[in-house]
Amino acid sequence: MSASEPIPMLDLKAEYALFEPQLTQSLLGVLQAGQFVLGPQATALEREIAQYCGVGHGIGVANGTDAIHLVLRALGIGPGDEVIVPSFTFIGTSEPVDYTGATPVFVDVDPRTFNIDVDAAERAITPRTRALIAVHLFGQCAELPRLKALCDRTGIALVEDCAQSIGADFAGKRCASWGVAGCFSFYPSKNLGAYGDGGMVVTQDARLAEEIRVLRNHGSRARYHHHVIGYNCRLDEMQAAVLRVKFAHIDQLNTLRREKAHGYNRRLAGSGVITPHEHGQGTHVYHQYTLRHPKRDAIRVALEAGKIGAMIYYPIPLHRQDVYAARGTPVSLPHSDAAAAEVLSLPMFPMLTDAQQDRVCEVVASAAKDC
Ligand SMILES: Cc1ncc(COP(=O)(O)O)c(C=O)c1O
Repeated sequence: MSASEPIPMLDLKAEYALFEPQLTQSLLGVLQAGQFVLGPQATALEREIAQYCGVGHGIGVANGTDAIHLVLRALGIGPGDEVIVPSFTFIGTSEPVDYTGATPVFVDVDPRTFNIDVDAAERAITPRTRALIAVHLFGQCAELPRLKALCDRTGIALVEDCAQSIGADFAGKRCASWGVAGCFSFYPSKNLGAYGDGGMVVTQDARLAEEIRVLRNHGSRARYHHHVIGYNCRLDEMQAAVLRVKFAHIDQLNTLRREKAHGYNRRLAGSGVITPHEHGQGTHVYHQYTLRHPKRDAIRVALEAGKIGAMIYYPIPLHRQDVYAARGTPVSLPHSDAAAAEVLSLPMFPMLTDAQQDRVCEVVASAAKDC
């Protein structure tokens, strides 16, 4: 590989090349079958992912934001209610709370894992709290046993935002199986990515599953009979067909990500950057490989000069976003602020090569030394 060849943040073409024959066959099958919405591909994927997570029900939806929204709606959450959300996450975690008319209550994160701080979450509980959304950020589970115990004790619903964590577990129990429901995003860049938008809710609760099935399909149990005002947010057959091909290999793909992450750790040891912390109580599936350094902007500039992709997930924590900050009641969430100021995500995808990792790390180490 030449020193000037760009290294992307994510290489979806390499992944496509790996699965091309199966993808073509699977997509052709949908075209030939002529059923594009609420068909056998989506139903099969729902069964496969629910089974993989160890729960009874899967409901395909249009994206990960809708997955969270429909869970909150099905739980009956609405105006006057509060939902606890970590501040250091993508806004797709909190928007659904606002859709319902409830209020997101932002809390701080653990500075090592970037996942919700359980003690801070406990302090944020009020008589209005109805749910807590745990985000398994960058592919590592939040402290699920403690969160579940807290939610069970206080009678609030634990909802898992698994957008970045398909295949991750805590103490051998998969994410999405701890809370009342787990919500997946199949946005193309995710560990399991569609070729468009997609999402899924999985749950062990048959009643909740049924409610979500109705809500995703115009509030309809039987065609043209509408019991509630629902939505049009179904997972389509083309996306489900793509996802089924990739899902069959999800564990291998996640293992490759872990290998790349550990390869980065080895190369960056002693460089002065803080490499990702694995809490050691489950599998981290490295949706992102996110390091920390007080001068991360200088490292980013050096990577850019070397035509190497790097991203800041996330530059502004949710409590500081205009839309939320304008609501008043300022909160102090120092760990979320510090994370937003110091994180930098490096290229991460299963087909990343050794030579690419060598070059990324040379640039990172040299820039960190000069800081
Ligand atoms: C943590 C998190 N939550 C929610 C979402 C929303 O998912 P989607 O983009 O599929 O709506 C995403 C992904 O974009 C995400 O990363």
